[in-house]
Amino acid sequence: MSTTPQTELWRRAAQTRQATALAHPNIAFIKYWGNQNDNLRLPANPSLSMNLASLHAITTVQFDDSRPADSLTINGQPVTGPGLARVSTSLDLIRAEAGLKLPAQVTSASNFPVGSGIASSAAAFAALAVAGAAAAGLPASGSSLSRLARRGSGSASRSVPAGYCEWLTGSDETSVATSIAPPEHWDLRDVVVVVSQAHKAVGSTGGHSLAATSSLQAARVAGAADRLAACKAALLARDLPAMGAVIEEDAVIMHGVMMSSRPPLYYWTPETMAIIQATQQWRADGLPVYFTIDAGPNVHLICDAAHAAQVEAAARQIAGVQRVLVSGPGGAARLIDR
Ligand code: DP6
Repeated sequence: MSTTPQTELWRRAAQTRQATALAHPNIAFIKYWGNQNDNLRLPANPSLSMNLASLHAITTVQFDDSRPADSLTINGQPVTGPGLARVSTSLDLIRAEAGLKLPAQVTSASNFPVGSGIASSAAAFAALAVAGAAAAGLPASGSSLSRLARRGSGSASRSVPAGYCEWLTGSDETSVATSIAPPEHWDLRDVVVVVSQAHKAVGSTGGHSLAATSSLQAARVAGAADRLAACKAALLARDLPAMGAVIEEDAVIMHGVMMSSRPPLYYWTPETMAIIQATQQWRADGLPVYFTIDAGPNVHLICDAAHAAQVEAAARQIAGVQRVLVSGPGGAARLIDR
């Protein structure tokens, strides 16, 4: 999309107070659920994910003293209220670090459908952090960009580095994501099986604050580092059966916490369960594929590139499946030439 070097784009952004960034959403193999500090988005446990190359958000930030206040447009629609306030909070962090007082115009668009079972906030806040920091003249530091993205949406921290990324627990300064392997390390596929495009009754932010009301959350958090270590070792060794077993376990443990929260969060529908059972049958029949599920009913089927077409075709046969999206591993959030 852009051949201009990043250093040149960062230089121009600081000069013109304007920048455009592209970021991919990510799918977590080891889940983030619950915070130690909701305000700072310091997670209860470390997590691990893969960026999704075929999907992206593109965001432009322009600091402009002729504007009365921040403004936001998403996919061509002006956004006010809580949506704009959340973006302004991220911009305030950037402005404070840069010693800047200018309002900003933010324009964002994504190439994936809303309600497709992909968390749009990860790509959107990663792109906002990169474009906003560049336009404000901040340095292109991966860890501070991941931190800025995290403050907007926790999982966005993992959309800043490339490929397969681990987000650590820690303090506001140290809880950032780093790449553990580039996208070229392993040509995995996320086959996203969409069974509902309805807006969730309780989104991730509301869900995180309920996590601690489940008596299972302490056990989930206590085991997360071991599951992450097992997942990371299997990922680095390109061992899909070992990785698949731990990602399924981790997703089901997270949903156990959700279902046992007060009030409970039941994201699964009968179609979700049908796909879980189909996945077990496909595996018994020799097709190497494993599931994971985020805060919604849609199922992400993880397999290698060689089996993706077969997995996609099998998923389309299941009653109630509305659409199927397929993506390989994606790169880092970055500035693009506009
Ligand atoms: C289930 O990052 O969307 O997808 O920080 O409130 O924006 P906020 O939450 P978010 O939570 C993601 C939850 C998850 C698991 C994961 O991606 O790790």
